[in-house]
Amino acid sequence: MERTLIILKPDSVQKRLIGRIISRFERKGLKIIGLKMMKADEALAKNLYSVHEGKPFYGKLIKFITSAPIVVMALEGIKAISIARRLMGKTFGSEAEPGTIRGDFAVSNSFNAVHGSDSPQSVARELPLFFKPEELVEWEPADIKWVYDFSGGTPE
Ligand code: RTP
Ligand code: MG
Repeated sequence: MERTLIILKPDSVQKRLIGRIISRFERKGLKIIGLKMMKADEALAKNLYSVHEGKPFYGKLIKFITSAPIVVMALEGIKAISIARRLMGKTFGSEAEPGTIRGDFAVSNSFNAVHGSDSPQSVARELPLFFKPEELVEWEPADIKWVYDFSGGTPE
């Protein structure tokens, strides 16, 4: 099982899309193991987006992500990172395919509804910025045997 970090950005919270966006991940079969609302301060935002430091959009990005509350979520599942990224769609709302979260809920380049970790290395760095180990909940969904095929011994 893989873990990933998802952030519902300030535009999603302001537009009252929290429930609908969380549903996209839930209904796919990804398991929520951590969830909270918070406001990111500048230090946290700079840490999250440190790879983008120096890029033309960096200042705007930090200002945006700290401008209003966000909802952070830890998800678990087989291939959780790539599945979540595909559910999100392309970075710019204007280019994201209909049916994806950004395709359905965003049109802007920067106000693009969600952040998702893009690799196992990013997860290892980003998840601990938002969740202490004790804030992540281990649990087994009652329908797990209908989410994955266990007939071969391992979930698939
Ligand atoms: P995120 O990190 O938020 O999940 O988005 P992403 O992986 O799809 O895109 P990334 O390349 O990591 O960029 C981070 C955020 O910076 C803004 N951005 N603006 N050329 C631009 O104006 C530009 N490029 C990126 C976006 O808001 C993107 O989500
Ligand atoms: Mg990124």
